[in-house]
Parts: sequence; structure tokens; C-alpha cells
Amino acid sequence: MNETLKVLDNRRSLRGYDPRPISKEHKEWILHNMFRAPTAGNMMHYSVIEVANQKMKDKLVTTCDNQPFIAKAPLVLLFLADLQRWYDLFESSGVSEICRERGLDYVTPQESDLLLASCDALVAAQNAVIAAESLGIGSCYIGDIMENIETHRKMFDLPKWVFPIALLCFGYPVREERADREKTPRFPQRFVYFKDKYLHIDSKEFEAMLMEHFGQPRSFFGGAQNIGQSVYLRKTGSTFAAEMRRSVKVALQDWSE
Ligand SMILES: Cc1cc2nc3c(=O)[nH]c(=O)nc-3n(C[C@H](O)[C@H](O)[C@H](O)COP(=O)(O)O)c2cc1C
Repeated sequence: MNETLKVLDNRRSLRGYDPRPISKEHKEWILHNMFRAPTAGNMMHYSVIEVANQKMKDKLVTTCDNQPFIAKAPLVLLFLADLQRWYDLFESSGVSEICRERGLDYVTPQESDLLLASCDALVAAQNAVIAAESLGIGSCYIGDIMENIETHRKMFDLPKWVFPIALLCFGYPVREERADREKTPRFPQRFVYFKDKYLHIDSKEFEAMLMEHFGQPRSFFGGAQNIGQSVYLRKTGSTFAAEMRRSVKVALQDWSE
């Protein structure tokens, strides 16, 4: 294995950080390589906010489903899907006029643009994760940043065509991490990697794999009787998932209205 493959293979999410700040040099490398990520049409439909203000970090703990380690992360980056600067340019450049002259529709950002911009933002985020990891800096995504859109819009002054798609916490590990630290399991490839056509997995087979792969728990979550019920109650049907659904619906309506 070469060094890059080793970094990718050994990465794990890190949620406990040494309080010392990320060194200037390390931060510059992370940012440099983050912005070297591929981006659709080389248009950089994303922006990144460094959340340096401790009060704002503290607030994110609660607005992102009560995750206290956010407040302790020396470096917190907010990744935004961002169509705003392009549309500001289009509006100030007479794009709607030239479209009218040529009989073209002038379209404002739609759902597809948000998905593409989110791809851009996440690809950059993952570059930052890997750059950091290669420097001995751990990280963890916070998907819950998609919740509470009204609060996050106000907190970060986000205009209409900017959507917070991911938050990343970075820091040096609290203690020297063992090189062979246990990794989280992944599904066997045959469940997620197909040739030429999508393979619709039989739910019983999927269930059997989950039980074998993650081990039979002593009891299921919240009195559930099987792993399907358990995962639904704990994740998909949880209050944080309900809040994310509500928040993203509002954001989608605002985005394309
Ligand atoms: C989009 C996304 C959102 C995530 N959100 C959270 C989160 O809110 N809180 C958290 O502790 N971990 C979060 N994670 C980290 C996952 O829990 C973690 O990647 C997964 O359990 C696998 O573990 P590993 O990264 O150590 O391999 C998120 C990961 C991704 C990719």
C-alpha cells in the first residue's frame, strides 16, 4: 500500500480533540487541497465558512442535535452549496435581457443546481478530510447542520441561494491514536457494488448480512423486535431526522420559489 492508500484506509471519524489549535502550516495545506478538489464546470458552486467564534460553536452544539464535541473542535468548517455569487453576476450582467432577446428562458436556481452545488461542496469537504488525516488531524462530519435552517441562515447571514450542506470538525487526536485502531465495519461489496445494472437486494438477505456483520445485539433499540424496526426508530424515524426533513423542505421551497 502506498501512503495515500494507507491514509484512506486508516481514516476514522474523530470526536475527541486535543485543545491545541491547528498549526498555521497544517491549516494552509488543508485549505489549499480543499480548494484543489474537482468542481462541476470549474465553477466552484460552494463556499466555506470557518466558524472561529466560540459562542457560535457553542450554539451549533444545540442546533446540530446536541453534539458537544463541536464546541471543542479547534477547527470547524461549514460547507455551503452556493449559487449566490453566480446569480448575482447573472442579474447584474443583463442575462435575463439577452435570454429574452434570444427567446430563451432565464431560469433561477432549481433543485438540480442545489444537488450539483452540494456535490461540489462535499467533494471539497472530503479533500479537506483526507488532507487533514494525512497530517495527523482527525475530523468528523456533522450532517445535522441541515437542520434548523432558519437559525443557521441568521447565524451565518446566508442569502437565498446558499445552503449549509455539511459541517466538519477538525482537531489533533486527544492521545496518540494507535495505528491499528479498530475501524468501523462496512457492508460487503456485493451489497453496494454492482456491474452494469442495479441489483435490487432482497430485504431478508440484507437483514441477514446486517445481523452477521454488525453482530446480534443483546436487545434492539427502543423495544424493537428486529434490526429494521431498530434502525428506523433510532435513525430514520428519530426526532433529529424529522427536524432535518422539515428544515430541508423549507430550504427547498425557499430555493426554487
Ligand atoms: C454526511 C455525513 C454526516 C455525518 N453526520 C454526523 C454527525 O452529525 N455526528 C457524528 O458524530 N458523526 C457524523 N458522521 C460520521 C459518521 O457517523 C461516520 O462516518 C460513520 O459512523 C462511519 O464511521 P467512520 O467515519 O469512523 O468510518 C457523518 C458522516 C457523514 C458522511
